[in-house]
This record gives sequence, C-alpha cells and structure tokens, in this order.
Amino acid sequence: MIPELSKPSVSMRDRKRVEEIIQSMRRAGPRALQVISDFDMTLTRFAHNGKRCPTSHNILDNSKLISEDCKKSLKELLNMYYPIEIDSSRTVEEKLPHMVEWWTKAHKLLIQQKIRKDLLAQVVKESDAMLREGYKAFFDQLQEQDIPLLIFSAGVGDVLEEVIRQCDVFHSNVRVFSNYMDFDENGILQAFKGQLIHTYNKREGALLNTGHFQELQDRHNVLLLGDSLGDLTMADGVQNVEKVLKIGYLNDKVEERKESYLATYDIVLEKDETMDVPNAVLRHIT
Ligand code: C5P
Ligand code: MG
Repeated sequence: MIPELSKPSVSMRDRKRVEEIIQSMRRAGPRALQVISDFDMTLTRFAHNGKRCPTSHNILDNSKLISEDCKKSLKELLNMYYPIEIDSSRTVEEKLPHMVEWWTKAHKLLIQQKIRKDLLAQVVKESDAMLREGYKAFFDQLQEQDIPLLIFSAGVGDVLEEVIRQCDVFHSNVRVFSNYMDFDENGILQAFKGQLIHTYNKREGALLNTGHFQELQDRHNVLLLGDSLGDLTMADGVQNVEKVLKIGYLNDKVEERKESYLATYDIVLEKDETMDVPNAVLRHIT
C-alpha cells in the first residue's frame, strides 16, 4: 500500500491494523486530520554522521551563554537523569520524581546564567541542531493542506521555535506547547512560565489546553509522532477521537526497548533519521 512501510527501519506489531487505520483516515480526508508531534529527537535528528545531535535544552547547554562551571553541572545532570528517562526496567511512576528533579535543577541553572533573549537566535544558528531529513516536505505538506500541527515538547519553547523559524517552516498552521522562558524588562531570563512539561506528564499538559483541542473538534483523526513512551499521551486532550496512528522513533537502546515500543506504537522506526514514513503516510491520507 505504502512502499515506505517496507523500509528495513520499519516494524509493526500488527500491519493489518495499521493499514486499516490508514485507509479509514484516507476516506475521512485531510479535513478530519490533525497532527501532534513531539519535538526533540522526533522532528530533530538523534544523530548525524555518528555524532549525537542536541535537544533544545542541549542547544543552550552547549552554547556560549553558559559558563564552563555551569556546563559541567548540566552535563552531570544529563548523565544522571537521561539513563533514568530511557530505562525500560522502571515504571513511569518510578521515573516521575526524577524527571521533575532534572527539569527543575536544569531550569534553575539556566536562570542563574542570566540568559539574554536577544542572543537566542544566534545561539541556535551556531548549534548543531538538525531537523530530520524530509522535514521540509512534512511541514510544507501540512501547511498546503491546512492541517494543524501541534508541536508538543518538554524542551524549551523559545529555542525550538527559533529552530523551525530558521528552517523556514514555522508556518501559520503550527502551534507549540512547551516550556517557555520568562524574561524581565531587560530581556534577561528570570523564570520559566506556567506548568512544567517533562517527558512523562504530557497527558496533564494536554488536558490543560482544552481550548486548543476544542478549536479542532471536527478533526477526529490524529497522526501522532514521538520518540519516548511519554509521547503516547500527547493526544489525550483530543475530543471525539476516531482514529489515532502512532509513529514512534526508536533512537537509543534499541534492543532493550524494542518490545515496549512495538507494544505501544503502531509503527516503530528504528534508527531512522528521516521523515520518509510520516511523509508517505500523509501523502496517502491526504
Ligand atoms: O521535545 P521533547 O519532549 O522530546 O523534549 C524533551 C527531551 O529533552 C527529553 O527527551 C530529554 O532527554 C531532553 N532533556 C535535555 N535536557 C534537560 C531536560 C531534558 O536534553 N535538562
Ligand atoms: Mg522527544
């Protein structure tokens, strides 16, 4: 049906079910569809030429805005908490307090660095951030067909917006839920706004934004893209859901985590740095 689904990077627990969902979405057409995507390591690359690519947090962490001492502390946090984030032997409940601790400590360190708003664009420009191959077709296709794209990220909103702006794909159909920086009257970071979003509380984040989903209440079908098991709850705020097709990027600790991804995502993309599969599915549906 869709040749890209035969790529070696693709696995599915139930191919027939995937085909049925896609057919049903195709019959309903683009006007019944909305797309909800995670940002870091889903829309951005996990690695390029064997080197890890940065998350929106890492773009700041590695930048000239951060002192050497602070870089060291942020790195220590990453080394301590990232293995917990992706540990398949712990439950989400066990991980929760650690995630809150990681984000809270990291945000506190960033605030201490008195980050200047007017330097963010330059820092993004100088970073190694990269959207996945085929990103332009993805964003442009959604824009052309008037399909809303919600980017739902536990990263830093100001930074990820700048990444998509610099790639010329921050189109009018894109909305972002994320952690936004709060700057004082001199443009210096003084806090983060609103309810903290981390990897495993996206359901709560979705339920806080009922207004957004209310606006899209006629769009019963959802294409969901994520890279973490926490991303699976991003569509929990959608009203009157008909079909949800979940595509998961399995980037790291592939063997350990494959079973859990296959059990929860409809399509699993193993070490696939492209948007080929989401693009092909979209072309077929719309
Ligand atoms: O956009 P997304 O929801 O994927 O953003 C969260 C990602 O950012 C997490 O997967 C986590 O590994 C990463 N992170 C980070 N530095 C932090 C906190 C989270 O790189 N201080
Ligand atoms: Mg992610």
